[in-house]
Amino acid sequence: MLIEKHGSIRLRDISLPSGTTPEQQELAHGMVRVNHLYRSALKVAVAQLEILDDEFATMYEHSPIHHIEYRIKTLDSIAEKLTRQGYEVTIDNIFTHIQDVAGIRVICNYLDDIYYMRRLLTRTESFRITREADYIKNPKDTGYRSLHLILDVPIVISEGTLHLPVEVQLRTIAMDMWASLEHELRYKSDRNFSENDAVRLRLCSDAIGEIDREMQNIYLGEKPEYEV
Ligand code: GTP
Ligand code: MG
Repeated sequence: MLIEKHGSIRLRDISLPSGTTPEQQELAHGMVRVNHLYRSALKVAVAQLEILDDEFATMYEHSPIHHIEYRIKTLDSIAEKLTRQGYEVTIDNIFTHIQDVAGIRVICNYLDDIYYMRRLLTRTESFRITREADYIKNPKDTGYRSLHLILDVPIVISEGTLHLPVEVQLRTIAMDMWASLEHELRYKSDRNFSENDAVRLRLCSDAIGEIDREMQNIYLGEKPEYEV
């Protein structure tokens, strides 16, 4: 199953107020180009994942992929991230400093499926890993778990071949549940997020780590370490 979270923007949809400076106009047009280029890279990477997903669904009993989500970072969010990192909002700075304009989340069934998908994705010569963070082996202080890859994805446009980064977050269903609710609790709900909440979420993350290992063992038919 594929879930796209945002749509595209078109040059003709942008209405600039009178008084817009030439620089602002150039930035607005550049943003449309950024959106198009990263959407293209996203399409290429998603198409490859879909091919693999289809193969598992049609040819094999087990699919490592539960579902896939993907999105293009909104222009507001790109601008906010550049500003937060102390950079001016320019097209060059987007290409140089933002690696997650195109983002894919691959939700896997079991722990081993994550590393299996990593192998499959990078076996093709077309996608090179340029950056990797394994927050499964080393969870973040918050308790966040996932495997993050930045893939270098080639796209062919009228001017030639371009390589663009696509961020791929691989995680299990359980890790995804934790990440969604933690994000909701920490940033979205009206309640105050306390240090106590943070501690409890870290404990939940530890429990999820154990559950993922045990689900994997059940799947593999391995004996448990406790009496049943
Ligand atoms: P960003 O500026 O957030 O992109 O940081 P970064 O470039 O150092 O990347 P990082 O490896 O920290 O991963 C960033 C992305 O991973 C975020 O956009 C989230 O989707 C996810 N993520 C990272 N940490 C957490 C966390 O503590 N909780 C949740 N829910 N998600 C997280
Ligand atoms: Mg990031």
